[in-house]
Amino acid sequence: MDLHILDHRLRVTSISKNGLVHFTHPLIKLIFLRNRTGCKFFSLTETPENYTVVLDEEGFKELQPSEHLQVEGSIWLPLNVVANGNVSSSSQAVGVTKIAKSVIAPLAEQHVSVFMLSTYQTDFILVREKDLAVVVSTLEEEFHIFREVAGESVPLCRQDAHNGLHKNGKEAILPTVHPVLIPQNHFCVMSLDPDTLPSIATTLIDVLFYSNSPKDDAASTPGQELDCVKFFSFSLIDGYISLVMDTEAQRQFPADLLFTSSSGELWRMVRIGGQPLGFDECGIVAQISQPLADSDISAYYISTFSFDHALVPEEDIARVTEMLHHQRKDAAA
Ligand code: ARG
Repeated sequence: MDLHILDHRLRVTSISKNGLVHFTHPLIKLIFLRNRTGCKFFSLTETPENYTVVLDEEGFKELQPSEHLQVEGSIWLPLNVVANGNVSSSSQAVGVTKIAKSVIAPLAEQHVSVFMLSTYQTDFILVREKDLAVVVSTLEEEFHIFREVAGESVPLCRQDAHNGLHKNGKEAILPTVHPVLIPQNHFCVMSLDPDTLPSIATTLIDVLFYSNSPKDDAASTPGQELDCVKFFSFSLIDGYISLVMDTEAQRQFPADLLFTSSSGELWRMVRIGGQPLGFDECGIVAQISQPLADSDISAYYISTFSFDHALVPEEDIARVTEMLHHQRKDAAA
């Protein structure tokens, strides 16, 4: 299998809910007028806490410093696993489950903090640039590692990353088991031909920037709303669009433009974290993705500025809930 270190230097930021009005202009430009910015990696996720924006340095230039903008201090590099055809795997599972054992677990063992971003197309594993040497030495046994430079994949020579490297010891620190929340909404993971983005522009603007304004057709019962959690994610990465939204948001989009995988499955969310998770702790993704991999349950995984979110097939949510419950019980024992 191949592992690509993509040619993007990313910043992880968050815009406060109240601060969104100060950023509508640059966000519209980043989403709809991508030829006006040099941004090639852009992801925006709305959660109840804030808006998480992950974007490359070109895109980051569009965001003016502000009290409403929080910026994580590091540069993050996206890694991407590419299966080169001849992998004989019995597993049908997709998403983070596929890379749990080969990438996520080994990095956690080496105390490398990751930031996950699953999309319709693929899963990006973001690592801090300063951790790259450890990342490469940890993963080079399992993978052919390539570094993308100006559109070309260059095989990484071993020495490249090794200078000054000392691998972390493997003392097992028991990971903190974080509380989880399982909201009632059902989610879909979709894509869209970038050429048809203008046709959904008004809906997208409405959902992204005006979703909190009261609607007069609020037919949903208040009780139902309470157990649902706002989560909407849009990403435009290397020309590919990915959307994650709940079925309520989905109803607002024209049915014929967005597409999802043929099975059209719905997903349930597990939100990980009671207090904001920060960026230094490692092993959070591993803790969730390992048991999913053991049970061969597909999962998308989206880290945001404050919390992590795993999406699992709706038919598996009972099993997953059970599994997490056991994990928490064992940790408490
Ligand atoms: N760093 C965590 C890990 O390595 C995942 C990210 C959690 N933090 C966050 N702000 N979402 O497992």
